[in-house]
Amino acid sequence: MSCSLFFLFLRILLLLCFSFSSFSSAATNKNLQASNTNMDPHETETLFNIMETLSSDQNWRVSHPNPCKPGSSWIGIECKNTGHDNLVHVSRLDFGIPPNPSCKNTATFPSEIFRLPHLESVFFIQCFTRTKTTISLPPQFSTSSLQQLSMRSNSELVGLIPSQLSSLKSLQILTLSQNLLTGSIPAEIFSLDSLLHLDLSYNMLTGIIPAQVGNLKSLVGLDLSYNKLTGIIPNTIGQLGMLQKLDLSSNELTGSIPESIQTLRSLVFIALSSNKLRGFFPEGVSKLQTLQYFIMDDNPMFTSLPSELGELQKLQELRLANSGYTGTIPSTYSKLSNLSTLSLQNNQLTGEIPVSFGSLSHIYHLNLSRNFLAGVVPFNPSFLNRLGKNLDLSGNPGLCLIPSDANGSKSNILGVNVCGNNNKSAGSLIKPWKMSEAHQHGITTKSSFFLVSTMIPVALLNHLFLYI
Ligand SMILES: *[C@@H]1O[C@H](CO)[C@@H](O)[C@H](O)[C@H]1NC(C)=O
Ligand SMILES: *[C@@H]1O[C@H](CO)[C@@H](O)[C@H](O)[C@H]1NC(C)=O
Ligand SMILES: *[C@@H]1O[C@H](CO)[C@@H](O)[C@H](O)[C@H]1NC(C)=O
Ligand SMILES: *[C@@H]1O[C@H](CO)[C@@H](O)[C@H](O)[C@H]1NC(C)=O
Repeated sequence: MSCSLFFLFLRILLLLCFSFSSFSSAATNKNLQASNTNMDPHETETLFNIMETLSSDQNWRVSHPNPCKPGSSWIGIECKNTGHDNLVHVSRLDFGIPPNPSCKNTATFPSEIFRLPHLESVFFIQCFTRTKTTISLPPQFSTSSLQQLSMRSNSELVGLIPSQLSSLKSLQILTLSQNLLTGSIPAEIFSLDSLLHLDLSYNMLTGIIPAQVGNLKSLVGLDLSYNKLTGIIPNTIGQLGMLQKLDLSSNELTGSIPESIQTLRSLVFIALSSNKLRGFFPEGVSKLQTLQYFIMDDNPMFTSLPSELGELQKLQELRLANSGYTGTIPSTYSKLSNLSTLSLQNNQLTGEIPVSFGSLSHIYHLNLSRNFLAGVVPFNPSFLNRLGKNLDLSGNPGLCLIPSDANGSKSNILGVNVCGNNNKSAGSLIKPWKMSEAHQHGITTKSSFFLVSTMIPVALLNHLFLYI
């Protein structure tokens, strides 16, 4: 449920970004109104060629003879007067989805973009979707100004990531997400030391994560999720001191979390779900004091839950489901006062739910289902009401609820027996337990408030990392 909300916010943010980008484009062209709008004829011709490779509007050359002229210019083009000469230059191209020009069915990757010497940013979103094409660079090219290259959701963009991309020395944002790129990640990419964001997610990349990844000292966001990467998480990842977001989920990574991860002191979001990572949490994980999201479902961990995670004061989401965890739930987790989501379902956890969990004042989603937890559920009625359907304790035959807590329909939703109701499954496991103990952690009901307040950080986080 929080997941679908997450994606809803993602979509809203995307929309905001698009409206903002078209707005800023219009504004820049307006600034040119008073000044000269002459272009270098070579640059104009290159631009016409790019247009003809991509656009379904084939009259463009005739209808827009002066592409940078305000009012006559095409949405999706931004021009700049660099001040060095008396000319305007194309600084941004944006193709694919409205309001930008759509790409024709036969559109292929226009390597001539690399011949526009003042181009700073390029966006091809849902552009190459009918005709197979590959990313290619001309043998010689002049542009060293390119700061952002973003190609997303191009279902016919296939082939390798060319190692020649490493000659784009000014590149800060490289997004090649949701295409059909294959082969391994060329290690040369990691010589682009201006890179702030590298997103190669949702492709079919194979091979290892090159150790050279540690060279990207300025990197803020690294997303290699949803590929077929193998091998270990290189220890050099610990050199990325500026890194805020690390997403390696849904690959085939093996080994364990590298010890060096403790040096990522700016990390806010880490996702390692759906890999083949095993056992062992480095003790130093407690040093990640800026961490807000720790997402690591679906790995064959088969170890005990690391109590160190209880030291991560800023943690808002902790997901460790479907990973074969054994032993008890560390009571240190109840120190996570900002925790809104805790997912520990489908493990092999035993023992009781820590009594102190009742004092998790920001918790909104708690899933402990399908474990071997036993004993009395230590939550009072206001806690149970606050979480409502977002509390899942089902599939723990040894758990039971005290009748007064279970009053109303909630006990059905929880899928937990009322203590004493079933002599076989619960009765023998119930230990004597004082009611006052459970009720001393009274919390007021503010579920709608918590829903809103926990979503805001997620939205902000996405805003930070969305470079489309
Ligand atoms: C808890 O979260 C709120 C907002 O999400 C933030 O203002 C506050 O600083 C956080 N507290 C800690 C201890 O991180
Ligand atoms: C808890 O996890 C189980 C198993 O993954 C899932 O089926 C269930 O919907 C989850 N419950 C809640 C309330 O999210
Ligand atoms: C359950 O709630 C009803 C009102 O909803 C109340 O009359 C009843 O006394 C409660 N039972 C217990 C055991 O608290
Ligand atoms: C539990 O079992 C005892 C006898 O073993 C029986 O007298 C009692 O009624 C049972 N309680 C319930 C709630 O089934």
